[in-house]
Amino acid sequence: MNDAMREFLDFGEPKELYDASYHLIKAGGKRLRPVLTLLSCEAIGKDWKPILPSAIAIELIHNFTLIHDDIMDRDEYRRGVPTVHKLFGEAMAILAGDTLFAKAFEILSRCEVDAKNLIKAVEIVADVCVKICEGQCMDMEFERREDVSVDDYLKMVEKKTAVLIACSCSLPAILYGEEKYVEPLWKFGLNCGIGFQIHDDVLDLIGKDKIGKDWCSDLVEGKKTIVYLKAKELGVDIEIFGRGKASDEEKRKAVEMLKECGAIDFASKMAKDFVEMGKKYLDALPDSNAKEVLLFLADYLITREY
Ligand code: IPE
Ligand code: IPE
Ligand code: MG
Ligand code: MG
Ligand code: MG
Repeated sequence: MNDAMREFLDFGEPKELYDASYHLIKAGGKRLRPVLTLLSCEAIGKDWKPILPSAIAIELIHNFTLIHDDIMDRDEYRRGVPTVHKLFGEAMAILAGDTLFAKAFEILSRCEVDAKNLIKAVEIVADVCVKICEGQCMDMEFERREDVSVDDYLKMVEKKTAVLIACSCSLPAILYGEEKYVEPLWKFGLNCGIGFQIHDDVLDLIGKDKIGKDWCSDLVEGKKTIVYLKAKELGVDIEIFGRGKASDEEKRKAVEMLKECGAIDFASKMAKDFVEMGKKYLDALPDSNAKEVLLFLADYLITREY
C-alpha cells in the first residue's frame, strides 16, 4: 500500500499544502481499510490490480477525516507525530483535508472497470462521505446532550466510522458488478467497523503511550463513548469528564474507576459481539486464503493495541 500511495500521490505547488496533506500519510498508520479492500477483492476471486486506485482512494478519505477530526477533537498527536493543524495551523489543515478528499475521487476514477460500475462506486463513496459528516456532527452534538442512549451512540459510530469500513470491504464487489457479494461484505464491514470504533474508545483510555494519540482525549473532551455511558448508568462520576484538560494522575484515577466499575469490560464485550456478528456474513463467500485473512483481521480490529 505504501508503495502504491507513493506512485499515485504527486507533489505540486505551493509546497506547504502538499507537506500538510501528506504529513499524516507519511507518518504511517495501519492501512487497515485499503488492506480490507484488496483482501475482499481476492476473496471474491477478482484481480486487485485494476481496482488498486479504489484502495488508495479509501485511505485518502480516511486521512482526510482524521485531519479534520483532530481539529474538531482538539488533539495534538496522531500516529506518534503532531497533528496537521498543530504543525501547519488550522486553516492549512482544513485545506489539506479538502485536498485529500478531492484527490480521493480523482484517483478512484482511475479504476479500470466497467463505467457503469465505476459510477455506482463513486455514488456510494460520496454517500459514505456524507454519512461520515453526519456521524461526526452527532459526535459533537452529543457532547452538549445529557440524554444520549446506547442506541444513539451506535447510530453515531455506525456513521462516523463503520460505513467507511463497510465501503472498504464491499467496494471490489461493486466495482466488479458482483452483486451477490455486495451486501454480505458491506454487513461484514459495518458490524466489524462498529466493533472497531468501540475498541478505539477503549484504547483512548487504556492505550496510553502505545496509541500514538492523545491519551484520554475522549474523557477530557466530554465524548459520550460507550464506556462513559455505561459508567454513567452505573452511577460512576468521572471528575475530569468534559473539563478540557487533566493531569496524568487525574487521568490514571479516572481510568482506574472505569476499569473497576466494569464499564471498560462491558465495552470490550460489546466490541467482540459486533465482530462475531460481522464475521458470520462471510459465510456467503467461497472459502479461500483471503477469506481466512479477513476473518483474522476482523479479530485484530478489537485486539490491536494501537
Ligand atoms: C482511527 O482509525 C480513526 C477511527 C475511526 C477510530 P485507525 O485506528 O485505523 O487509524 P490509523 O489509520 O491506523 O492511524
Ligand atoms: C474518529 O473517531 C472518526 C473519524 C475520524 C471519522 P475518533 O475521534 O474516536 O478517532 P480518533 O480516536 O481521534 O482516531
Ligand atoms: Mg478524534
Ligand atoms: Mg472524533
Ligand atoms: Mg478515538
